[in-house]
Amino acid sequence: MYSGQIFKTTQASYRLKAKIAEGGYSEVWLATTRNWSKVIIKMPSLKALQRVARSEWHYYREHLWTEIEFLQRAQHDARESIIELLDVGSYDLEGEAFPFLVLESMETNLCHCSPPDNLATILSWFQQITQALGTVHRLGYQYRDLKRSNILLDANGEILKLIDFGALQPDDPNRLYAMAGTSAYMAPEQFTPASSAVSQTNSQYRYATDRRTDWYSLGLILFWLVTGEDYHPESPQQDRQRFMDRLVHLQNSDNTRPLVNSDQTWFAGPMLNPLSTHLTALLEQLLAKDRETRPESAEDILKQIQPWITPTLPKPTKPSIVRPWHIGLAMLFLLTLLINQVWSTTPEHNAIELPLDASLLAQPIPD
Ligand SMILES: Nc1ncnc2c1ncn2[C@@H]1O[C@H](COP(=O)(O)OP(=O)(O)OP(=O)(O)O)[C@@H](O)[C@H]1O
Ligand SMILES: [Mg+2]
Repeated sequence: MYSGQIFKTTQASYRLKAKIAEGGYSEVWLATTRNWSKVIIKMPSLKALQRVARSEWHYYREHLWTEIEFLQRAQHDARESIIELLDVGSYDLEGEAFPFLVLESMETNLCHCSPPDNLATILSWFQQITQALGTVHRLGYQYRDLKRSNILLDANGEILKLIDFGALQPDDPNRLYAMAGTSAYMAPEQFTPASSAVSQTNSQYRYATDRRTDWYSLGLILFWLVTGEDYHPESPQQDRQRFMDRLVHLQNSDNTRPLVNSDQTWFAGPMLNPLSTHLTALLEQLLAKDRETRPESAEDILKQIQPWITPTLPKPTKPSIVRPWHIGLAMLFLLTLLINQVWSTTPEHNAIELPLDASLLAQPIPD
C-alpha cells in the first residue's frame, strides 16, 4: 500500500493519504473521497500476511468480515456510540480478494489523551462506552477487547465511538473460547483457563468468557477516567492514593458537588458523599473477580450513575405565568420597536441604502 493509491468500491473511489496504525491483523489508513472528505480505510496488514503461510490468510479475511457484518447490523439496529461503516470494497492481493472497510474518521483514540477534568464529561464518556458495549451485547456478542486504543474521540472531546469488532464472539455462557484480549485489560476469566479447559482436539486451553467479561475491562476504563492512571502497571496502594487525589481534584473543580473528604481512603467505606460511594461501589461491581457477581446489563450499570448525568434533552417547559416584570419588559420592547420605526423612515437613514440595479446582476463576474 502506498500514499496516493486509489481504492475503489462500487459506490466511490478513495485516495490513501497516510498509514495511521498497523495492528496484529490490519492496517489503518487516512484517505480522502473525491470531494476531499476525510475517511478511514481498514484493510488486512500486508506485513502480517507476509509473516504467515498462505493457507492462513483466510483468518485475516474472516476477521474483517466479522467486523463488516457486525457493523452492518449495528448501523441498522442501533449504532449508538459505534463507529459508522460508510462503504465496503474488495481488493486483490497476490491473486486473492480481501475486503476493506471505509469508516467515518474520528480525531484520536483514548491512548493519546488525558481523562476529562470535570465530572460531567467523565460521566458522559463512561455512559457512551457503556452504551456501545450494550449495543454489542444486545446484538448477541461479547467484545473482550475493551481498551483505550479501541475507543475513539471526536475533535471536540465530546463524542466517543467504539471500534475494532474483528474478534467478536457469540455471547454464550455455556461455551468455552480461545484466549483473546489485551493483557492489561483482561478479566480474570480471560487468562485463567476454565476447569474443563483443555479441548479434546488440541492442547489449547479454553476460557469461560461472556458479556460480563467486558464489564471488568469497563471497570478498568472507569478507574482510568477517575484517576488518570492505568490500573495494572502500578501497585494497588499507589492506585488508591491516586484515586483519592483525583476525587479531591474533582471536588475542587466542582464546588457544588463535593465528592469526598481527603482523609478517607478508597474502598474504605462507607464514604460520606453519595457520588464517591456510588462510584466506588460501581467499580467494585465491575472489577469483581467472579463474573457472576458483575452487573447483568448496560442498563443496570447506567442506572447507577443516572442521577448525576447532565440531561442532554431540553427540560420540559413550565406553564407560563405572567408576572408584573414581564409586562414591563414587553412595554420596553414595544417602545424600542417604535423608535426603530421612526428612525428607519427618516430621509438620512434611507439615503444610505443603495439602489439595486438589476442589469448589474446580469453581468458576468470578471476573472
Ligand atoms: N475510524 C477511525 N478514525 C480514526 N482513527 C482510527 C479509526 N479506526 C481506527 N483508527 C486508528 O487505528 C488504530 C487501530 O485500529 P483498529 O483497532 O481498528 O485496528 P486493529 O488492527 O484491529 O488494531 P489492534 O490489533 O492493535 O487492536 C486505532 O487505535 C486508532 O488509533
Ligand atoms: Mg484495536
